[in-house]
Amino acid sequence: MSIYRPTPTDSFPTDTSVLQGETEETLSKHIPSPEYPAQPLNRNAHLQWLVRNMVQGFPTRYTSQDASQPWLMFWTLQSLSTLQAGLDSGNKQKAIDTIMSWQYPEGGFGGGPGQAPHLLATYASVCALANVGRPGPGGGWDEIDREKMYKFFLSVKQADGSFTVMRHGEVDVRGIYCLLVVATLLDLLTPELVAGTPAFLASCQTYEGGFSSSSQPYFSSGTLLSSPRPPLGEAHGGYTFCALASWVLIKSFQPPPYGVDIDVKRLLRWLVMMQGSEIELGGFKGRTNKLVDGCYSWWVGGAFALLEMLGMPAARTEAPTAHSDTDDEWDDVDGQSYPLRPSVVQYSTVPDTLFNRKALQEYVLYAGQHPTGGLRDKPPKTSDAYHTLGCLSGLASAQHHVTPSTRRREEITLLWESNTECAFTEQRKSAFIDALAWVEEEGASKYVGSSADRLNAMHPVFNLTMTHTDTMMGHFYQQTVPP
Ligand code: FPP
Ligand code: ZN
Repeated sequence: MSIYRPTPTDSFPTDTSVLQGETEETLSKHIPSPEYPAQPLNRNAHLQWLVRNMVQGFPTRYTSQDASQPWLMFWTLQSLSTLQAGLDSGNKQKAIDTIMSWQYPEGGFGGGPGQAPHLLATYASVCALANVGRPGPGGGWDEIDREKMYKFFLSVKQADGSFTVMRHGEVDVRGIYCLLVVATLLDLLTPELVAGTPAFLASCQTYEGGFSSSSQPYFSSGTLLSSPRPPLGEAHGGYTFCALASWVLIKSFQPPPYGVDIDVKRLLRWLVMMQGSEIELGGFKGRTNKLVDGCYSWWVGGAFALLEMLGMPAARTEAPTAHSDTDDEWDDVDGQSYPLRPSVVQYSTVPDTLFNRKALQEYVLYAGQHPTGGLRDKPPKTSDAYHTLGCLSGLASAQHHVTPSTRRREEITLLWESNTECAFTEQRKSAFIDALAWVEEEGASKYVGSSADRLNAMHPVFNLTMTHTDTMMGHFYQQTVPP
């Protein structure tokens, strides 16, 4: 039996509690022991798995993802970049040509050749191009039709500040995140594009603190309003990342007041509570009372860095009071002394970071890695392209502390102001500077195994490497960004 305490149950088993118990049983077998020593990052197996998918083609089970071709491309290329690897120039060119075949004649990118443009496919295509593309003929970057893309963006804008993911599609915060990332990278942000969007985002925050996919449309005298209206559905890690990152991007372009705000303290509390216990190896779950899953290593684990852009300190230096109301839920329920959830231990007693970085690395390394390559949701599942990137990006964000830096901000401001050729608005200047102000804090990287497990640090908002971000934004804003 595991030394770690299973999640307490009452005497009324449900599908949820039974599944939770089974999952803990499986995960507990992945806690390193003399019999099963701790696994390092199996870099070669993952690289081979990624290259095989990219160069030889994905296995037939991926045919159901035909309309997600840009995602398969982005997940694979970005995973390679995270592992500090890339394609040779011939395969890079093939990738660029394939990505460009998804650009729709009227603007934006679709899920495959000839498919209607979609905000999610547009994000995945542009971020894939950030990995492999370049300026100049055939390089993809200058073949993006930015004017038509902007028209596509405006065509999906709704009166309440939200966006549908495609023409006649559904509204949700994933689409808003995808649009804002692309608009920021390609210098397409305008006040018209983001009008009303902060209010819509704020309306998606639920009573738990995380964000749901959307909110209930509310009409007053025939006009669609973005507030007041209740969130639609429950708080979820995927939507929370998208809403928070969108908030950060808009705030950089257009500072508050917006007439509404998000509750950052409640959000932090919810994020912290999404980290699993020791028996769940410190992985993250996407919603209350659901299972830990490797992809939330990024969607939830990666969200903590974003809070720093909203002024939240990266570490607790004093005993918190915010947690006292939750202590009873997790301490000695049956009078016995069990280890607390790692997040709670970390948050309440260790002047380190807001989540347990060590525990998250352990989940990815011990439970997330598939023995034959690629990473996964959880054992005994197989690996897939989406979870490979989610696990790797989450591992990278747990290894490195990427944070907004005053020094870098000053450097980028100076660069901008010395470039007299550019007549940019203050808002675009601010979006550019904020996006490039993130730096990896020197000496703060921590590896559960050894530094041989090091991954590249990721941009906390875009999930691109810092170098790809600097190069792409430098190109589209016509600045030469220093390394
Ligand atoms: C629930 O699945 C998952 C969702 C409702 C969507 C989650 C959204 C994301 C992961 C964000 C995607 C972001 C972009 C930019 C495309 P589930 O019920 O199978 O999983 P769960 O039990 O963990 O909630
Ligand atoms: Zn998942």
